[in-house]
Amino acid sequence: MENFKELVQKRRSVRKFTDQDIAAEDLQTILRAALMSPTSKGTRAWHFIVVDDKEMLEKISLCRPMGSQFVAGAKVAIVVLGDREATDVWCEDASLAAVTMQYQATDLGLGSCWCQVRNRYMENGEPSDNILRYLLGYPEDLSAECVIGIGYPAIERKPQDEDNLKWENVHIGTFAEEEE
Ligand SMILES: Cc1cc2nc3c(=O)[nH]c(=O)nc-3n(C[C@H](O)[C@H](O)[C@H](O)COP(=O)(O)O)c2cc1C
Repeated sequence: MENFKELVQKRRSVRKFTDQDIAAEDLQTILRAALMSPTSKGTRAWHFIVVDDKEMLEKISLCRPMGSQFVAGAKVAIVVLGDREATDVWCEDASLAAVTMQYQATDLGLGSCWCQVRNRYMENGEPSDNILRYLLGYPEDLSAECVIGIGYPAIERKPQDEDNLKWENVHIGTFAEEEE
Protein backbone atom coordinates (compact mmCIF):
# COMPACT_ATOMS: atom_id res chain seq x y z
CA MET A 1 0.00 0.00 0.00
CA GLU A 2 1.36 3.34 -1.03
CA ASN A 3 0.09 5.56 1.74
CA PHE A 4 -2.50 5.90 4.49
CA LYS A 5 -4.74 8.16 2.42
CA GLU A 6 -5.21 5.35 -0.10
CA LEU A 7 -5.49 2.69 2.58
CA VAL A 8 -8.48 4.34 4.29
CA GLN A 9 -10.24 4.60 0.94
CA LYS A 10 -9.52 0.99 0.02
CA ARG A 11 -10.75 -0.61 3.27
CA ARG A 12 -14.22 -2.07 2.82
CA SER A 13 -15.99 -4.78 4.76
CA VAL A 14 -15.44 -8.16 3.14
CA ARG A 15 -17.71 -11.05 4.12
CA LYS A 16 -16.82 -13.62 1.44
CA PHE A 17 -13.42 -15.22 1.48
CA THR A 18 -11.39 -17.61 -0.66
CA ASP A 19 -9.78 -20.79 0.65
CA GLN A 20 -6.30 -19.30 0.49
CA ASP A 21 -4.40 -19.59 3.75
CA ILE A 22 -3.12 -16.52 5.51
CA ALA A 23 0.65 -16.67 5.97
CA ALA A 24 1.66 -16.94 9.61
CA GLU A 25 3.84 -13.88 9.18
CA ASP A 26 0.88 -11.81 7.93
CA LEU A 27 -1.26 -12.92 10.83
CA GLN A 28 1.49 -11.91 13.18
CA THR A 29 1.71 -8.50 11.49
CA ILE A 30 -2.02 -8.02 12.05
CA LEU A 31 -1.73 -8.93 15.73
CA ARG A 32 1.31 -6.69 16.05
CA ALA A 33 -0.83 -3.80 14.81
CA ALA A 34 -3.42 -4.54 17.49
CA LEU A 35 -0.75 -4.62 20.18
CA MET A 36 0.50 -1.21 19.00
CA SER A 37 -2.95 0.40 19.06
CA PRO A 38 -3.62 3.21 21.52
CA THR A 39 -5.26 2.49 24.88
CA SER A 40 -6.52 4.79 27.61
CA LYS A 41 -3.75 5.41 30.16
CA GLY A 42 -1.70 2.84 28.28
CA THR A 43 -3.50 0.03 30.10
CA ARG A 44 -3.33 -2.38 27.12
CA ALA A 45 -5.92 -4.49 28.90
CA TRP A 46 -7.17 -6.30 25.85
CA HIS A 47 -6.83 -9.93 24.81
CA PHE A 48 -7.09 -11.50 21.38
CA ILE A 49 -8.14 -15.05 20.66
CA VAL A 50 -7.04 -16.25 17.23
CA VAL A 51 -9.24 -18.99 15.82
CA ASP A 52 -8.58 -20.88 12.60
CA ASP A 53 -10.30 -24.17 13.37
CA LYS A 54 -13.14 -24.55 10.86
CA GLU A 55 -15.52 -26.15 13.35
CA MET A 56 -14.91 -23.43 15.91
CA LEU A 57 -15.36 -20.72 13.27
CA GLU A 58 -18.74 -22.24 12.47
CA LYS A 59 -19.73 -22.28 16.13
CA ILE A 60 -18.64 -18.66 16.56
CA SER A 61 -20.69 -17.70 13.50
CA LEU A 62 -23.80 -18.81 15.37
CA CYS A 63 -23.27 -16.48 18.34
CA ARG A 64 -25.96 -14.15 16.98
CA PRO A 65 -29.22 -14.76 15.12
CA MET A 66 -27.91 -12.59 12.26
CA GLY A 67 -24.87 -10.54 11.29
CA SER A 68 -22.30 -13.12 12.40
CA GLN A 69 -22.77 -15.84 9.79
CA PHE A 70 -19.91 -14.62 7.57
CA VAL A 71 -17.42 -15.69 10.27
CA ALA A 72 -17.97 -19.34 9.24
CA GLY A 73 -16.29 -18.62 5.89
CA ALA A 74 -13.36 -16.64 7.27
CA LYS A 75 -9.89 -18.17 7.30
CA VAL A 76 -9.18 -16.72 10.70
CA ALA A 77 -11.30 -14.96 13.30
CA ILE A 78 -9.80 -12.76 15.96
CA VAL A 79 -12.01 -12.38 19.01
CA VAL A 80 -11.29 -9.01 20.58
CA LEU A 81 -11.74 -8.97 24.34
CA GLY A 82 -11.60 -6.12 26.83
CA ASP A 83 -11.03 -6.30 30.57
CA ARG A 84 -14.00 -4.62 32.25
CA GLU A 85 -12.26 -4.60 35.64
CA ALA A 86 -9.05 -3.02 34.37
CA THR A 87 -10.58 -0.06 32.55
CA ASP A 88 -13.95 1.67 32.16
CA VAL A 89 -13.16 2.32 28.49
CA TRP A 90 -12.54 -1.27 27.52
CA CYS A 91 -14.91 -1.00 24.54
CA GLU A 92 -13.04 1.97 23.12
CA ASP A 93 -9.68 0.26 23.60
CA ALA A 94 -10.93 -2.98 22.07
CA SER A 95 -12.55 -1.14 19.16
CA LEU A 96 -9.38 0.74 18.32
CA ALA A 97 -7.39 -2.50 18.33
CA ALA A 98 -10.02 -4.11 16.11
CA VAL A 99 -10.08 -1.39 13.48
CA THR A 100 -6.29 -1.12 13.52
CA MET A 101 -6.17 -4.82 12.62
CA GLN A 102 -8.66 -4.20 9.82
CA TYR A 103 -6.46 -1.50 8.28
CA GLN A 104 -3.40 -3.71 8.63
CA ALA A 105 -5.28 -6.57 6.96
CA THR A 106 -6.25 -4.31 4.06
CA ASP A 107 -2.66 -3.23 3.71
CA LEU A 108 -1.66 -6.88 3.35
CA GLY A 109 -4.24 -7.47 0.61
CA LEU A 110 -6.60 -9.28 2.97
CA GLY A 111 -10.29 -8.64 3.53
CA SER A 112 -11.98 -8.38 6.90
CA CYS A 113 -15.27 -7.62 8.56
CA TRP A 114 -16.33 -6.69 12.07
CA CYS A 115 -18.92 -8.88 13.81
CA GLN A 116 -20.41 -7.01 16.75
CA VAL A 117 -20.67 -9.01 19.99
CA ARG A 118 -21.11 -6.48 22.80
CA ASN A 119 -24.80 -5.67 23.36
CA ARG A 120 -25.88 -8.41 21.00
CA TYR A 121 -28.13 -11.27 22.07
CA MET A 122 -29.63 -14.50 20.89
CA GLU A 123 -33.38 -14.69 20.39
CA ASN A 124 -33.78 -16.17 23.89
CA GLY A 125 -31.97 -13.20 25.43
CA GLU A 126 -28.65 -14.99 25.94
CA PRO A 127 -25.79 -12.49 25.43
CA SER A 128 -23.60 -13.38 22.45
CA ASP A 129 -20.64 -12.71 24.75
CA ASN A 130 -21.73 -15.59 27.01
CA ILE A 131 -21.88 -17.92 24.05
CA LEU A 132 -18.32 -17.02 23.04
CA ARG A 133 -17.11 -17.30 26.65
CA TYR A 134 -18.54 -20.79 26.82
CA LEU A 135 -16.95 -21.76 23.49
CA LEU A 136 -13.55 -20.17 24.05
CA GLY A 137 -13.13 -20.28 27.83
CA TYR A 138 -12.27 -16.68 28.66
CA PRO A 139 -12.77 -15.48 32.24
CA GLU A 140 -15.74 -13.46 33.58
CA ASP A 141 -13.76 -10.20 33.84
CA LEU A 142 -13.30 -10.18 30.08
CA SER A 143 -15.96 -9.42 27.49
CA ALA A 144 -15.91 -9.62 23.73
CA GLU A 145 -16.35 -6.37 21.87
CA CYS A 146 -16.30 -8.00 18.45
CA VAL A 147 -14.95 -10.72 16.25
CA ILE A 148 -12.90 -9.73 13.21
CA GLY A 149 -13.19 -12.26 10.40
CA ILE A 150 -10.25 -12.23 8.01
CA GLY A 151 -9.33 -13.91 4.72
CA TYR A 152 -8.49 -13.24 1.10
CA PRO A 153 -11.46 -11.51 -0.54
CA ALA A 154 -13.61 -13.69 -2.79
CA ILE A 155 -15.33 -10.60 -4.15
CA GLU A 156 -13.93 -7.28 -5.16
CA ARG A 157 -15.27 -4.29 -3.30
CA LYS A 158 -15.09 -0.80 -4.67
CA PRO A 159 -13.06 1.67 -2.67
CA GLN A 160 -14.93 4.32 -0.66
CA ASP A 161 -16.71 6.78 -2.93
CA GLU A 162 -14.91 10.08 -2.61
CA ASP A 163 -18.03 11.89 -3.92
CA ASN A 164 -20.36 10.37 -1.33
CA LEU A 165 -18.65 11.43 1.88
CA LYS A 166 -20.87 13.06 4.51
CA TRP A 167 -19.04 16.34 4.63
CA GLU A 168 -22.30 17.91 5.85
CA ASN A 169 -21.72 16.10 9.17
CA VAL A 170 -18.52 18.05 9.71
CA HIS A 171 -19.15 21.29 11.59
CA ILE A 172 -16.61 24.03 11.77
CA GLY A 173 -16.40 26.05 14.98
CA THR A 174 -19.95 25.37 16.25
CA PHE A 175 -22.84 23.07 15.28
CA ALA A 176 -24.86 25.96 13.86
CA GLU A 177 -26.29 25.24 10.44
CA GLU A 178 -24.81 27.19 7.62
CA GLU A 179 -27.07 29.67 5.88
CA GLU A 180 -27.86 29.02 2.23
C1 LIG B 1 -19.20 -1.15 15.37
C2 LIG B 1 -19.44 -1.94 14.11
C3 LIG B 1 -20.23 -3.08 14.15
C4 LIG B 1 -20.41 -3.84 13.01
N1 LIG B 1 -21.09 -5.01 13.11
C5 LIG B 1 -21.22 -5.79 12.02
C6 LIG B 1 -21.81 -7.07 12.15
O1 LIG B 1 -22.21 -7.50 13.23
N2 LIG B 1 -21.93 -7.84 11.03
C7 LIG B 1 -21.47 -7.40 9.81
O2 LIG B 1 -21.62 -8.15 8.83
N3 LIG B 1 -20.88 -6.20 9.67
C8 LIG B 1 -20.73 -5.38 10.74
N4 LIG B 1 -20.07 -4.20 10.64
C9 LIG B 1 -19.57 -3.73 9.33
C10 LIG B 1 -20.48 -2.60 8.79
O3 LIG B 1 -21.69 -3.17 8.35
C11 LIG B 1 -19.74 -1.86 7.67
O4 LIG B 1 -18.57 -1.28 8.18
C12 LIG B 1 -20.62 -0.79 7.04
O5 LIG B 1 -21.70 -1.35 6.36
C13 LIG B 1 -19.84 0.11 6.08
O6 LIG B 1 -19.24 -0.66 5.04
P1 LIG B 1 -17.68 -0.65 4.78
O7 LIG B 1 -17.01 -1.20 6.00
O8 LIG B 1 -17.49 -1.53 3.57
O9 LIG B 1 -17.25 0.78 4.54
C14 LIG B 1 -19.85 -3.42 11.77
C15 LIG B 1 -19.05 -2.28 11.73
C16 LIG B 1 -18.84 -1.55 12.88
C17 LIG B 1 -17.93 -0.35 12.83
